Amino acid sequence: MMKILIAGGAGYIGSHMVKQLLHGGHDVVTLDDLSTGYRDAVLGGMFIQGSIADQELLDRMFAEHRFAAVFHFASFIQVGESVVQPARYYANNLVNTLSLLDAMVRHGVKHFVFSSSAAIFGEPHSIRIDEGHPVAPINPYGASKAMVEQVLRDYDRAYGLRSVSLRYFNACGASPDGELGERHNPETHLIPLALQAASGRRENLTIYGRNYGTPDGTCIRDYIHVCDLCDAHILALEYLQGGAASNAFNLGNGDGFSVQQVVDTVSRITGEIVPVIDGPRRMGDPARLVADAKKAHDTLGWKPRYADLDVIVSHAWTWEKRLSTGIWTGA
Ligand code: UFG
Repeated sequence: MMKILIAGGAGYIGSHMVKQLLHGGHDVVTLDDLSTGYRDAVLGGMFIQGSIADQELLDRMFAEHRFAAVFHFASFIQVGESVVQPARYYANNLVNTLSLLDAMVRHGVKHFVFSSSAAIFGEPHSIRIDEGHPVAPINPYGASKAMVEQVLRDYDRAYGLRSVSLRYFNACGASPDGELGERHNPETHLIPLALQAASGRRENLTIYGRNYGTPDGTCIRDYIHVCDLCDAHILALEYLQGGAASNAFNLGNGDGFSVQQVVDTVSRITGEIVPVIDGPRRMGDPARLVADAKKAHDTLGWKPRYADLDVIVSHAWTWEKRLSTGIWTGA
């Protein structure tokens, strides 16, 4: 059993992580400023409302608890917003992350697992993106993640802080028991938006472009279940605790699904019509983003449990029904 600090544990992926760690018998402390997260998504452990920018708070927390590791989920994630408000992204995703890392250094906490993103790669140069792919972000969101990865390499060398950066492709799905799921405000991601159109919470779904160089003309993405991402965090920590060097891994299923295929899957799984309208391309969307996750399989022993898109969509549908029928009563 370990005590782990989860920064951003009230958010979508962080809250699933807290749940999974508690289930594994670990001791969890969540730090979240609730700027985008929800208190009721933190299903157990200690909760502290506050910011990773608050050095005094961090000093108090690190003095009080002997953390074996820190998992960092507390970042802003909207690519489009990052283009028009880069200051917000560099302030939170980069500067505030430095604050968290510096507190770890001051208090001698050596293991860090970082939520990075496929967005660090920019326009893909290959069919599947492995770790050898050039890092060339095309928006401030991706740049902020790439910069933290650079900081982590330097902090390892200088301060012995060992880290694993996990580059998520398209995080999606929900806790299989329906207890947790995606609750972004505003929601910008394809699967929850398509499910909201299916449940009637939203009038329709706009497909951003049908003129890409893909078989059906819509963009292809690699959709990876949130619980599989959480599994990778635990494996990454075990890897670090085994004495391994700092590293970075791409996390996806290695299968690409087009926007139209996702819409068809949502219709089939829900039994509902997804009203669709065709819109223009969204700025900054590459035609195809698919992971080569062989390194995570080989090095961490990571194997996604919920690789089937039908399973991903059915878990997310259970959650959407909870939201759309008002059974969930939180803020
Ligand atoms: N899409 C639509 N209509 C919508 C929403 C999305 O057609 O209403 C399309 C997008 O154009 C894209 C695909 O569905 O082709 C997936 O879009 P998402 O917004 O769900 O996710 P992204 O692929 O844009 O993911 C990006 C980065 C990730 C990053 C994430 C952060 O690739 O690295 O945004 O939110 F983590």
